[in-house]
Amino acid sequence: MASTGTVPATMKALVKTKEAFSFDLQTVPVPEPTGDEVLIKVDAVSVCGSDINMYTWNDVAKVIATIPFTPGHECAGTVVKCGPDADIPVGSKVGVENHYYCGTCYQCTHDTREICLNMGQFGHGRQTPYGGCSEYTIVPAKFLYVLKRSLTPDQIAMLEPLGVAHNAVERLDCRGEDVLVIGCGAVGILVQKVARSMGAKRVIAADIDESKLKFAKELGADITVNTKEKDLKEFIKSFTDGVGMGRICECSGAAVMVNATFPMLRKGGQLVLVGLPKQPLHVENVLQDVVFKALTLKTVHGRRIFHTWRETEALVAEGKVDVDQVITHHFSMTQFEEAFRVLMAGEACKIVLYPSQ
Ligand SMILES: NC(=O)c1ccc[n+]([C@@H]2O[C@H](COP(=O)([O-])OP(=O)(O)OC[C@H]3O[C@@H](n4cnc5c(N)ncnc54)[C@H](O)[C@@H]3O)[C@@H](O)[C@H]2O)c1
Ligand SMILES: [Zn+2]
Ligand SMILES: [Zn+2]
Repeated sequence: MASTGTVPATMKALVKTKEAFSFDLQTVPVPEPTGDEVLIKVDAVSVCGSDINMYTWNDVAKVIATIPFTPGHECAGTVVKCGPDADIPVGSKVGVENHYYCGTCYQCTHDTREICLNMGQFGHGRQTPYGGCSEYTIVPAKFLYVLKRSLTPDQIAMLEPLGVAHNAVERLDCRGEDVLVIGCGAVGILVQKVARSMGAKRVIAADIDESKLKFAKELGADITVNTKEKDLKEFIKSFTDGVGMGRICECSGAAVMVNATFPMLRKGGQLVLVGLPKQPLHVENVLQDVVFKALTLKTVHGRRIFHTWRETEALVAEGKVDVDQVITHHFSMTQFEEAFRVLMAGEACKIVLYPSQ
C-alpha cells in the first residue's frame, strides 16, 4: 500500500444522517482504502445548486440522494494512499468523476458511461457514503481523473460543472453562430464561456434575475435579456428578423423556458437541454415548432468520461476558459451554513469550500 505523510486518525466531515434541514459537522475516523480504493486529501469542494436540495432535504433530495452520506460532488484532491489494487501515484492531483458507472451495462459498454443504467453518485449517498465535504475521502481509482497539467484546487473542483457545460456546448455546432443561453446560474455562465471558446459569434444570456444578468454581462455575454421584463420569444423574433434562433442551450431548468425554446428555434436549429425541469413539458404547435423545423434536440447528463475532463483541463490550463471568475465566494468548510445562506439567497455564482481550514 503506497502512502505519504502522516494521515490523522480523525477528520472533520459534513454528514447528512437524518431527513432534516442542514448537515452535521462531525469528527469521524479517516477511512482506510481497501481494494481499488484511493484515499484523497480534499483540497477544495465547490457547491452545486443541487446541493441545496440535500441541504434543505426537499422532495428532489429524496429522489437524488440516500441517507447517510457526506455531501459534495465537485471535489478536488491529492492522492495520499492507495488500496492494494489501486496504483495512482501518491501526490497526484485528482478530480472526482461523481457518476459512479457500473462498467457492464449497455451504456457503459457503448461509450456512454456517464448515463450508466446502474449509476451511483459520489456526494449523494448512492453506492458510496463518501463525498467531498470532508478532509479526506475515498474514491475508487476508476472514478478519479488524474490531472496532467498544473491547475489550482479551485480550478480542479470547477472541472466538474465546467464539464457539464462543455458536454452540452459540444453537442451544438456553435462556430460562427449566435447562441442563446437561458439561465445564468453557474452552469449557464460556464456554458456561455465554453460557447465563446468554441467560436460562438454572440452570446445572448437570459434570466429572470437582474443581478445574474449583470454578472453574465461582466463575464462577457454580448446581450442580456431579463425574461421577467421582456417576452423572450418576441425578443428573439425581432433579433433574428423572424428567422428564429439557430442555437439554444437551456440552463434554467424552468419548464416554461424549456417549452419556449421550440417556438424560438429557427428551422434546422439545434437545442441542448441541461436544466432539470420539475414540471411536465408542453409544446403547443408540434407540427410547426418541432417536426417541420427538422430540429436537432440533444440532452446531457454529466460529463463524457473521461473525454470531457481532458478537454476542460486543456481549456482551463490554456486560459481559454477562466473558471476563477465564476467563483464568487470562498469559505472554510466549517462555515457551510453561511455558504448555503449566501447560495440560497441568490447572492453567489459558485462557492468553494475548504475542508481543512
Ligand atoms: N444535465 C446535467 O447533467 C446537469 C448538471 C448540473 C446541473 N444541471 C441543472 O442545470 C440547471 C442550472 O444549474 P445551476 O447550478 O446553474 O442552477 P442555478 O439555480 O444556479 O441557475 C438557474 C438560473 O436560471 C434562472 N431562472 C430560473 N427561472 C428562470 C426563467 N423562468 N427564465 C429565465 N431564467 C430563469 C435563475 O434565476 C438562475 O440564475 C439546474 O436545473 C440544474 O439542476 C443539470
Ligand atoms: Zn454539480
Ligand atoms: Zn453501467
